[in-house]
Amino acid sequence: MLYISCLRNICAHRARSAQEGGRINNPVATPDARPVLYLVACGAGPARQLPGFVRSSQDEGWDVCVITTPAGATFLDADPVAELTGHPVRVSYKHPDEPDVLPPADAFVIAPATFNTINKMAAGISDTLALGLLNEAVGLGLPIVAAPWPNTALARHPVFQASVARLRDWGVRVILDPARLPRPADPDAGTFPWPELRAALTSLRGYDAS
Ligand SMILES: Cc1cc2nc3c(=O)[nH]c(=O)nc-3n(C[C@H](O)[C@H](O)[C@H](O)COP(=O)(O)O)c2cc1C
Repeated sequence: MLYISCLRNICAHRARSAQEGGRINNPVATPDARPVLYLVACGAGPARQLPGFVRSSQDEGWDVCVITTPAGATFLDADPVAELTGHPVRVSYKHPDEPDVLPPADAFVIAPATFNTINKMAAGISDTLALGLLNEAVGLGLPIVAAPWPNTALARHPVFQASVARLRDWGVRVILDPARLPRPADPDAGTFPWPELRAALTSLRGYDAS
């Protein structure tokens, strides 16, 4: 039952974006008519920088909804993010008698995507709301852009490399430059690819907002 309530957040999209080659040219008929971006944050340091990416995505015309994993929630101050987006930050599956608090999604960004969530997503595991929504999005052919953020050691792990290859094979756009990841000894270093994520969102909309 909880699984079904998760599906209701995105099933209304049917295969629209797939029919449009992954581009979001026709905004969904949400009350404010903007296309809806589900921004998924996992438990890694760049999640603290999410509000800046929310603002730039809103500037590009997206109605942004933030979903975090339970670990991601510890990196994020939910109240200001909810105020910024106008939507509650969702972490857990809801019960069927609770209302859908988010509009249906048109596209997903996973930023940051942990080693853990990338591997679980590639294995089809749905033990967090974030993964449940992402797994359904894969099945529905919705556009997904992921920015994995393992350290350089974890990025060389064979399971992680296989997971990234598998997600790419499914059509997930994975933005990953090993040269920009933090080293295990210096976890706060590295350069998170926010500009590349912004460019990916722009190309999803099919126009250049600059
Ligand atoms: C302070 C801190 C920083 C972390 N940084 C990262 C990171 O940069 N990348 C990563 O893949 N995991 C990182 N982790 C580990 C993840 O949070 C952990 O694997 C967690 O289970 C991920 O859960 P999630 O994938 O559901 O978000 C960090 C953990 C802590 C406590």
